[in-house]
Parts: sequence; C-alpha cells; structure tokens
Amino acid sequence: MKARAHTNIALIKYWGKADAKLRLPLMSSISMTLDQFYTDTEITPAESDEFWLNGQLQTDRTANRVFNYLDFLRDKYQIKTPLSVKSVNHVPTAAGLASSSSAFAALAACFNYEFDLNLSKRELSKLARIGSGSATRSVYGGFVKWEKGNDDDSSFAIALDEHPSMDLQMLAVELNQREKKLSSTAGMKLATSSPFYQPWLVRNELELNEMQAAISQNDFTKLGQLAELSACEMHAVNLTAKPTFTYFEPNTLRVINLVTELRKQGIECYFTIDAGPNVKLLCQKENVKEIISQVQALLGSVKIVQATFGEGVKALS
Ligand code: DP6
Repeated sequence: MKARAHTNIALIKYWGKADAKLRLPLMSSISMTLDQFYTDTEITPAESDEFWLNGQLQTDRTANRVFNYLDFLRDKYQIKTPLSVKSVNHVPTAAGLASSSSAFAALAACFNYEFDLNLSKRELSKLARIGSGSATRSVYGGFVKWEKGNDDDSSFAIALDEHPSMDLQMLAVELNQREKKLSSTAGMKLATSSPFYQPWLVRNELELNEMQAAISQNDFTKLGQLAELSACEMHAVNLTAKPTFTYFEPNTLRVINLVTELRKQGIECYFTIDAGPNVKLLCQKENVKEIISQVQALLGSVKIVQATFGEGVKALS
C-alpha cells in the first residue's frame, strides 16, 4: 500500500515533551499543512525489515528510528510481518522543514491501509505522534491543532479548518540543506532548562486562543504576528538554555532583519523558524514576487519555495 502525507509548519510551536516515549507534548500547538512538501511511502511484506529513502537503502539511525516504529506498530496490532518501507521525500530532509512530520504520518497511514486496520483519523494521529510529534498534525490538511492531552489516548490532532479561505502563502527560504546539528528531540530537551521555559508554557493557552481567533476571523495580520512571536519564544528559550544553543546562522538573522525592513516599507510579511537555520516567510499572494526579489537581492541565488495549504494524509493507488 502507498500513502502520501504533507509536512506542516507550526504557527504555535511544539517544543518540549512531557513523556519522551509516548511523545506527549508539554504544550498544544497549531500548524498549517503545506501543499509543496510531502512524503510518499509504500510498505510491502519482506524477508526482513528494510528502509529505502529516496531510492537508497538506509542503514543508519534513520533506519533504526523507522524499524523501532515498525516494532511499535506491530506490537500494538499483533502483526509479525517483516516489512520493506520505501519513502520518497519531497522535502529537504532534516533541514528544518520537519520532514519527520510527513514521514511518520505517511508510514502510519500505510500501515493502516496495508493491514486493513480501518483506523479513524484521530487514531492515525495518535499513531503518527509516536513516530514524531509534528507528525500528529500532518494527518489533517489546512489549519490543525494538536491537543496536548495527558496520556496516549488524549493527545491527538483535530482539524481547525481543512479548507481555509485565508490568503496565506509560505515562502521557505532554504539557507542550508545540510542535516541539522542538533535534532529536535535533543534541542527541546535542552530548552526546558531555560529560566524562560516555564513562563512560556504558562502563555501557551493564551497564544492558542489568540491564534484560533485569528484563524476563525480570517485575520492574516494577527496570525502572522502570533506565529512570529511563537517562533521567537522558542528560539529565545534555546538561547537561554543551559548550555545555550541556537539554530540560527548569520543568514537567518539577515532574513529576520529583512522581514522588519519589509514591514517598514509597507510589505506585510512575518517569519517563523523551526529546528534549523531556514526561515519560512508568511505573506499574502500580492506580495510574493516583491518579497522573493528582495530576499534574492540580499542573499543571491537562494532557493525559495512557495507553498500554501496542503491536504491531509491519503492513500495512493
Ligand atoms: C520546531 O516533531 O521533529 O518543528 O517529536 O522529537 O520527532 P520529535 O520532534 P519534531 O519537532 C518539531 C519541532 C518544531 C515545532 C513544531 O513542529 O511544532
């Protein structure tokens, strides 16, 4: 069976675990599923487990993470079959575009179809969560909220609006395609040592409510401001962790400065950044061309991919 899942970009970030094994988050989060970035995954019964990524057999920790996840799934549903997993990523792997979100959502969906489990989207979302936190949200399209819950059963995503009418474009500025230095799992563990971590958690409910209001009122400005704030809060706890760390690179800061400059020019644009140096710009259609040309004037021939709302996980024939 084959399935496709799209990646998502968090507008209100998930950045900390209450339970590492179950991947229960310390905060709820809200995301936008993206049309341009996705993973296609096929699973077939095999002699022994194998994992192919973009046509290459994987033997490193990427493969181990997949095998451990297969073990979890087989254990849960009492299935013994060894599996061959073939994934093609239409996402720069591990460069801060959360390829793990589409990867584990696609894998969970494939498993569901292959073994006729007839799982609901809610169940799929919980399964995807065990593979990678952000994958919880990739089960749905449009705007999605991951309710943190307090145990395996209560931590899942819900669709806030699968077909939003908001004019919302994301421009992914790919500053660096290399594998990130510090995985999200490791980064979020360190971040909890920041003195600002607890105060940030206290703000979570407020920020979620404001973001949900921005979504339901179709308020791009409010959404952009809140998304930028959430990203800055996440990177602020990294900078104030013990030991301090950051995903920012010099060009990350140059793009951040450009965003404030663009706003001074009256061109509405906001930024968000995940666990890597790449910057994602949030804007509206009428400004896309101008923003791309100013980023390119600043950085030269940098790759910029435009995306908007993508759909939820689905079977491919
Ligand atoms: C910064 O989902 O990659 O993108 O649960 O350890 O697999 P694990 O982490 P992951 O973390 C994503 C962190 C983020 C913010 C977000 O997507 O909410």
